[in-house]
Amino acid sequence: MRIFSGIQPTGRKHLGNYLGAIRGYVEGQERGEGIYCIVDLHALTAGPDPNELRRSVYDTAAILIAAGLDPERCILFRQSDVREHTELCWLLCNVASFGELSRMTQFKEKSEQHRQFVSSGLFFYPVLQAADILAYQTDEVPVGEDQKQHIELTREIAQRFNSRFGQTFALPVHRIPPVGARIMDLQDPRKRMSTTASTEQGAVYILDDAAIIRRKFKGAVTDSGKEIVRGADKPGISNLIDIAAAARGVPPEAIEKEFADAAGYGSFKEAVGEAVVELLRPVRERYEQIRPDEEAVDALLSRGADKARAIASPTVAVAREQMGIGPVRPR
Ligand code: TYM
Repeated sequence: MRIFSGIQPTGRKHLGNYLGAIRGYVEGQERGEGIYCIVDLHALTAGPDPNELRRSVYDTAAILIAAGLDPERCILFRQSDVREHTELCWLLCNVASFGELSRMTQFKEKSEQHRQFVSSGLFFYPVLQAADILAYQTDEVPVGEDQKQHIELTREIAQRFNSRFGQTFALPVHRIPPVGARIMDLQDPRKRMSTTASTEQGAVYILDDAAIIRRKFKGAVTDSGKEIVRGADKPGISNLIDIAAAARGVPPEAIEKEFADAAGYGSFKEAVGEAVVELLRPVRERYEQIRPDEEAVDALLSRGADKARAIASPTVAVAREQMGIGPVRPR
């Protein structure tokens, strides 16, 4: 079982990233061969400051290790260190259509947000993501709900490639957790929690300290009524129930039951805040030990890249050959 996922570099990874995806990576390394990639090339589509981008790769690597990824048991690397990703991206661009890329929700949303300059990198973002996944003959991709469309596109591209050029890629499936796959903004629970779109109070960051986390939950927007139950008309409370359930590793019904006699939202919000403080505390503590030693992190990413390249390069070589790239007799 080969498990692959990618995550954008930033020190501001949030609770949604943690519950929706990072926990799935850690679990993946127990179930199979886990390969995890810090996607600095994808991050370019947001036009980051170059020095900040470079540093943020260390932030993210330290967060992932602090969260439980063990570089002895999985492969952790920087996307740009393995050039096969960009080469395969270009090959796959010729198998993905303009129409299907135009229909990607994330592209539509982001291009609306940055009207003055929509880079073509943003348009090709999902093709690079498909290349990431397909280069490793991936079986499963742990992601949050928002990435489902990109994984479906990846399958579509793989299938089209295989039928046009011959069997080359495995067809991956997404693995989306039953609870926590879509954590919403604490201030605007109809919007997904996000590093770029959430306000400071709306997002809980993995590296926030306990006092800040408590304050954010205390100030979380709730709905009318008093009952602690989920419902379409109660996005604020439903989100808090999901967060509590995911943080404690119990089904949402158990949280509803536990708080059935609560005297209102105040004490419930406090309890959810406390559960998240306990969940993230060890991650932040380990992060503080790991992050300062950039050389150690570099060495580990570079070993990861060597292992990743050894897996990706034969598949990319086959893809090139199938498409007619290179000399008649492959060297
Ligand atoms: P990124 O870094 O934006 O997000 C990382 C992961 O966090 C999940 N996520 C959420 N889960 C639950 N609730 C939320 N509010 C929430 N917000 C984000 C995302 O679904 C994601 O799994 N495009 C990818 C990066 C990528 C990738 C790949 C993923 C590049 N190549 C190959 C898988 C396979 C992304 O959105 O990263």
